[in-house]
Amino acid sequence: MQQTTQQATISPEDETLKAVEIIENQEHDAKNLVKILQEIQKELGYVPENAQRLVAEKTRVPVSKIYGILSFYNFFRLYPPGRHRINICLGTACYVKGSKNILNKIEDAYNILPGQTTKDRKFSLDTVRCLGCCALAPVMAVDGNVYARNNPTKVLEILKKFT
Ligand code: FES
Repeated sequence: MQQTTQQATISPEDETLKAVEIIENQEHDAKNLVKILQEIQKELGYVPENAQRLVAEKTRVPVSKIYGILSFYNFFRLYPPGRHRINICLGTACYVKGSKNILNKIEDAYNILPGQTTKDRKFSLDTVRCLGCCALAPVMAVDGNVYARNNPTKVLEILKKFT
């Protein structure tokens, strides 16, 4: 099941310092790129732009290529994690029961797209292909807790309870 994301919010300056520390402890080799980026994400919860630039400098790999790697692997995050992580299931069972409408409702209500975090860092939104409980479709998980048989109105009511 999903992990709770409770990364403390740190300033961009501290993020940069952390990223420098991580990069300095790694081999500055282009072959090591994914590992360096994973280490940064492990520490910060995502890979900020300033860290991408630092990695580019140290490994002598263009920022555009680093961005390409981050976009290619869906486990990388380009936005800071929210205090609560929403996962909307878009697997077949959930999809035919309206999970796309649920997703659209959340996108509109919180002004975010999958892979993003609300400005106040309250929620991160992601989609998944199956949460393994298709009989409960359409399913949403928040911080790893599953909410069953949803509709757009019900999910907004559920999300209002989170602080
Ligand atoms: S398709 Fe949604 S839980 Fe399986």
